[in-house]
Amino acid sequence: MAHLHITSWVIAFALVALVTTFTRSGNEKAAKISHMILRVDYLLVLYSGGSLFASYANYDALVIIKLLVGLWAIAAMEMVCIKYKKKQPAASWWGQLLIAAVIALVLGFGFLELGILPA
Ligand code: HEM
Repeated sequence: MAHLHITSWVIAFALVALVTTFTRSGNEKAAKISHMILRVDYLLVLYSGGSLFASYANYDALVIIKLLVGLWAIAAMEMVCIKYKKKQPAASWWGQLLIAAVIALVLGFGFLELGILPA
């Protein structure tokens, strides 16, 4: 499940890069298709993260923060794509995505016990 989780959020980051690049270059059809694939990929991130969460025996603060920060990162990805589509400023959502992603990575790889790296 950890491998599915990592694979699906890596794909999500790649798709955010594609959506924003396509939108910026005016290729709206490609942007729309990659955004739709991104939304399906959110489901994989949520399913795999939810399964990891469900496999905990005891819930400490860190894993609850990890869950919330993961959801925040997905919300920020979606908002970045929407702001690009509407041609509105996206900087604050880029900032939030960066903060949420860094916290999720540090908690996930550094502090939490499940997954592929020993904490
Ligand atoms: C872009 C969003 C996300 C990123 C960058 C991210 C990142 C990570 C990373 C790096 C790990 C550690 C994997 C490992 O050590 O093998 C992890 C594990 C986990 N993630 Fe996420 N995640 C995201 C979204 C989510 C979401 C939405 C949820 C909840 C629905 C979630 C829940 C979890 C849980 C419960 C774990 C297991 C923690 C542990 O290692 O004990 N994540 N995530």
